[in-house]
Amino acid sequence: MCGIVGYTGTGKAGSIIIDGLKKLEYRGYDSAGLALQNEGKVVIIKTAGTVAALEKIYRGNCLTAKTGIGHTRWATHGRPTEVNAHPHGGCSDDLAVVHNGIIENYKLLRSWLIEEKDHQFRSETDSEVLAHLIEEYYDGDLLAALRRAIDEVKGSYALAAISAREPGRIVCVRRDSPLVIGLGKSENLVASDIPALLNRTRRVMVLEDGEFASITAEKVEIYDAGGKPVEREILEVNWDLEAAEKGGFAHFMLKEIMEQPVAVRETLRQRIDLPSGKVDLSELAMDTGEISRLKKIHIVACGTAYHAGLLGREIIENIAGIPVDVEVASEFRYRRPLLAEDHLVIVISQSGETADTLAALRLARLRKVKVLAVTNVVGSTIAREADQVLFTWAGPEIAVASTKAYLTQLVALYLLALYLGQVRKDVDPALALDLVKGLLELPAQLEKLLADEKLEKLRAYSNHLACWDNAFFIGRSLDYPVAREGALKLKEISYIHAEAYAAGELKHGPLALIDEGVPVIALVTQKVVLEKSLSNIQEVKTRGGAVFIITRDDFGDLIRQEEAVFTLPPVGDLLAPILSVVPTQLMAYYTALARGSSVDQPRNLAKSVTVE
Ligand code: F6R
Repeated sequence: MCGIVGYTGTGKAGSIIIDGLKKLEYRGYDSAGLALQNEGKVVIIKTAGTVAALEKIYRGNCLTAKTGIGHTRWATHGRPTEVNAHPHGGCSDDLAVVHNGIIENYKLLRSWLIEEKDHQFRSETDSEVLAHLIEEYYDGDLLAALRRAIDEVKGSYALAAISAREPGRIVCVRRDSPLVIGLGKSENLVASDIPALLNRTRRVMVLEDGEFASITAEKVEIYDAGGKPVEREILEVNWDLEAAEKGGFAHFMLKEIMEQPVAVRETLRQRIDLPSGKVDLSELAMDTGEISRLKKIHIVACGTAYHAGLLGREIIENIAGIPVDVEVASEFRYRRPLLAEDHLVIVISQSGETADTLAALRLARLRKVKVLAVTNVVGSTIAREADQVLFTWAGPEIAVASTKAYLTQLVALYLLALYLGQVRKDVDPALALDLVKGLLELPAQLEKLLADEKLEKLRAYSNHLACWDNAFFIGRSLDYPVAREGALKLKEISYIHAEAYAAGELKHGPLALIDEGVPVIALVTQKVVLEKSLSNIQEVKTRGGAVFIITRDDFGDLIRQEEAVFTLPPVGDLLAPILSVVPTQLMAYYTALARGSSVDQPRNLAKSVTVE
């Protein structure tokens, strides 16, 4: 994600920018930096620490600059080190750039700049290429240089730049990453998000995709992609700071649920080739020989990440035909698991710091088995210690209850299964192409699902749920792991005792618990077991259970006649779990709201479990 702040005016730019960056730490916090126009030069200060660490370094310098740009980073390309932190300069100390997004063709541009234009690079980041490109094209007008540089760039970006040769001016541009401009008195600002502006102004203008802006203390000029001036409406923001940090949502959890289409899109980005349908995970350090020799995979994780692993087993076995075991890390680490050199251990962890998962990773490496980590945090211990990493690009997840990270873990596992299957030539190319197309449709389907008026139905059922102390989730086949994740989310934030059962197991015991009104959430998205699932629902209803069904649009009138039904957009059996979990997340959220429990910080829990 990353957060950007720029300031130009009569105030002390450094302090004002740091203040703004603190409000953007929810967008990333693994490193931070600042560039200020100071006595004819651009001075860059950066650190591998948080904004607070940056502030300490800044206070130690006597910089009274009135113009500057700053950045708080969530590492994507390049580890979270000082040299990789933004701002990035070119070869001279004339210019600085901050960037949020991903430059897809940076390798090509970097080679050209090094080999043909003699530029010297310092960092491992994709973003540094922007500073060198602008420097290369600079001819007295920073905006013109930015425009030429952007012409060459593919990817997503929100970018701000300053030059020592143009005092008091910031230029910026955006595509697929946000930028807002704040209008003050004899000062103007630019930032990734509104909270960074609120201590200085409540008058903002939103920069649209493809637009450029030139900002000085007295004037803001916006231009469209073709260079024509644009008139932009000024908005008055009346959110308080807390609401603004959550993007106007009441809780981080809801914000993160709503961010899922973007998180999935980012995780898929650059990893799929069309029309061939080939998945490219050349970022992994496994050659064709190793992949072909793989005899077994062990997935190890905790909590929600373990539930992603349960689905991972079904997906990998189905698509790549490799046998998979799944185990919670706290058990795996104290057994003597049967591991061999032609096995692969996959650890899944959002934070990359979970103690048990890390111990499982170390155990596997000690036993000379390669470890692949699926994680969301570049530079985390698990990312550093694994042999290879498949990053999920969910962006920082703040709410304790994991939502968007889980969805991106699933997407990463689908990509991995397809990749392994394609390298081993075990997956039917037509099936692979179908799945790849299905994956690419997911962001739009998620957007539709989250904007659906049917969400009201979820709310209504959640109000019923909120009055009970016990609830059940049932599902067969791929619906069963989703049921388990749904139950975990509900108990975690609403404190309702929720259990998940493979629907076929009901009559072997749990059916005894069903009585008048008992809430039962049934997941019915798998065609192969549709009839069986419907019979299980009947068994519950006959005993008075209050059933809420989550199913697919294309399962016909059989289900649609029911009152308490939430239907998903058309989706095949294999991909359905990515959509069907979303209503369970929302149900947990609405139920917690109705019970008045603390949504983002549930009692007794922590976001990152670094102790056993
Ligand atoms: C539940 C939840 C936890 C985590 C678990 C593992 O919503 O978030 O169950 O999934 O603590 O955490 P990571 O993925 O950071 O290893």
